[in-house]
Amino acid sequence: MSTPSFPQQRLRRLRSSGLIRDAVADVTLDPADLIYPLFVSNARRARPVNSMPGISQLPVAQAVQLIRAQAKRGLKQFLLFGVTPASNKDATGSYAADPDCPVNRTLAQVRHAGLPVLLYADLCLCEYTDHGHCGVVPDRPAPTGTVNVDNDATLELYAQVAVAQARAGADVVAPSGMMDGQVGAIRRALDQAGRPDTAILAYSVKYASSFYGPFREAGEGGMQFGDRKGYQMDYRRREEWRLELQADLAQGADMVMVKPAVAYLDVLHQMKQLVPGVPVAAYHVSGEFAMLHAAARLGWLDLKAAALETTCALRRAGADLIITYFAPQLAEWCA
Ligand code: PBG
Repeated sequence: MSTPSFPQQRLRRLRSSGLIRDAVADVTLDPADLIYPLFVSNARRARPVNSMPGISQLPVAQAVQLIRAQAKRGLKQFLLFGVTPASNKDATGSYAADPDCPVNRTLAQVRHAGLPVLLYADLCLCEYTDHGHCGVVPDRPAPTGTVNVDNDATLELYAQVAVAQARAGADVVAPSGMMDGQVGAIRRALDQAGRPDTAILAYSVKYASSFYGPFREAGEGGMQFGDRKGYQMDYRRREEWRLELQADLAQGADMVMVKPAVAYLDVLHQMKQLVPGVPVAAYHVSGEFAMLHAAARLGWLDLKAAALETTCALRRAGADLIITYFAPQLAEWCA
C-alpha cells in the first residue's frame, strides 16, 4: 500500500460548524451600507404596492416616522421617490422642482426634525410628467418604440430639480434619467446655487430593463407611449458601461451605480476594480425584489435565505452601497 505523499485536502474543515464558518466568512452585510428606497405621496393614507409586498406609498408624515424608527435600528440611508397626483403632472414635470412636492416636503421635515440620516433624492422627471418619460418629449412623438427625449432641454430641468432638492435638504441627489451630460449640468447648477457640498450619486450604468416593472406601479411613472430604449442602455453591449462611467466621473460624480444589480454582476465587479476609490452602489430593483417574493409566496424558496444570498452576492461582486427594498429586513437579520 502506498501512502499519499501529501495529506488529503480537507476544505470541509472550515465548514464544520456555524462558529468556524462565521469566523472565516469575509463577505459581510452591514446595515450602515444599505439604502432604503421610499415612495412618498400626498395621500392621506399609506397605499400598499401590490407587486412589492411590504412596500407602500407613504404620506410624508408616515415617511418621516419610518425614517426616525429605522434610524434607531441602524438603517441610516434613504432614497426618496415621489408619487405625483395626475392633476400635478405636466409635459415638463415641473412639480419635481416645487418645494411642496412630497419628496421636497419629506426632505425638509426630516431636516427640521434633525434626524441623523443620509438623504438621497432620486432626480428624474418620469414620476412628474404626464407622458411618463424621463425628460422633454418632442411635439409629435412616435406612438410606439423609441421616444427621442430632448437631451439638452431636459438638462435645464434637471438642474432646477437638483437645486430644489438640495435646498429642501438632500445630502445627495441621484440623477436616474440617463441624459448625456446630466451630472455636469447638475454639478454646475448646485455650485452656482451655493450648494457645493451636495453630492451626486450617478446612476451611471442603467440598463433599459424589464425588472423595473413593479416600480412603475409604485412610483406611478409608467410611460403613456413608447419605451425608454432611446436613453437607457442596451444590455447587449458588453463594454459601453465604461464610457458612461468615464463621462460621469469626468463631470463630477461622487459615487456611481449599476442598475439593475443581479443581472449585471459582471459589470459591477469590473467597475469596482476599475475605480477602486470611488464608492460603487448596486440597485437591487423592484422586479428583482418582486421575483423573490413571488417565488417565496408559492413556497418555492425561502425568502430570508434568498434575500441574504442575493445581497451577499452584490457585496462579493464589489458593491460598497446597496440600494434594496429588503433594507429593513436585512438590518434586522444582520443585527
Ligand atoms: C426613474 C427610475 C426608475 C427606477 C428608479 N428610478 C424607473 C425607470 O427608469 O423606468 C427603477 C427602480 C426599481 O425598479 O426599483 N427613472
